[in-house]
Amino acid sequence: KWTMGAFIDQAVAAIREQVGDKKVLCALSGGVDSSVVATLVHRAIGDQLICIFVDHGLLRKGEAESVMQTFFDKFQMNVIKVDARQRFLQKLKGVSDPEQKRKIIGNEFIYVFEEEAGKLEGIEFLAQGTLYTDIIESGTETAQTIKSHHNVGGLPEEMKMDVIEPLNTLFKDEVRKLGEELGLPEEIVWRQPFPGPGLAIRVLGEVTEEKLEIVRESDYILREEIKKAGLEREIWQYFTTLPNIRSVGVMGDARTYDYTVGIRAVTSVDGMTADWARIPYEVLETISNRICNEVPGVNRVVYDITSKPPATIEWE
Ligand code: XMP
Repeated sequence: KWTMGAFIDQAVAAIREQVGDKKVLCALSGGVDSSVVATLVHRAIGDQLICIFVDHGLLRKGEAESVMQTFFDKFQMNVIKVDARQRFLQKLKGVSDPEQKRKIIGNEFIYVFEEEAGKLEGIEFLAQGTLYTDIIESGTETAQTIKSHHNVGGLPEEMKMDVIEPLNTLFKDEVRKLGEELGLPEEIVWRQPFPGPGLAIRVLGEVTEEKLEIVRESDYILREEIKKAGLEREIWQYFTTLPNIRSVGVMGDARTYDYTVGIRAVTSVDGMTADWARIPYEVLETISNRICNEVPGVNRVVYDITSKPPATIEWE
């Protein structure tokens, strides 16, 4: 009979057998798949696993800290954190086209990862969180994709390492179960989908630190209130966006001319189609009030009531 416990035992044995006393590298992103694969491989070979976590500055508030807390402090894994925030920001300067932004971030991620990996010696394997569904999807990929999906964690062919993919027989829900079984915190196991290019595609147009800060802070408030309302698991994805517009408002006796924040929340099964989530008005009210009061530079909040299609989930 197939059980998660038996799966773990088998996977651990297979990894040990394949790796021997060699070293394994893993790109940790904080997402479910890379987190589970790193933890599983760590269970098999301990300190022979080295993880690289690239902080590109496009993560949500508190995420980089939480990754380090879980894997470095708690699990005592070998994690090298690379602070590449300035580097990414520099590359994105003056760029406003969404696909261009995706390309730059995807490429830069690979450069940073390769640079770090190059400093290490004797690495022979690369562990990746490829799922069963990833294999099927890439097999049937159509020539024309609507948005290029650069996943942080997808790595170049030239890196001469053998690949270990212990999750490649599993579906997403099984990976979550495995994560729970391995003792990963709920916030990682039940993390909502988050795009590789991160907040850069939620700041519409050119990315600046000021704008990232607005998205980071407003997104944090949204997440807090959704959690308080107990809606986390009902909504597939929820986040804020910063369209490139400012509008007139009034604060006290003064006229303001500040940014508008968009709230996006959708229900979905697989992200291919989606419906806008019917968040109760009272919850929306609290979110809107808090964002305008607590996030400097924002005087208006709008709610996206478009399904996919015709819109996409992300705004870029
Ligand atoms: P869209 O916006 O195309 O998004 O309806 C569908 C799902 O994919 C995620 N998404 C991305 N994920 N790299 C990723 O890894 C990307 O460039 C990217 N663009 C969109 C989006 O968050 C949603 O879950």
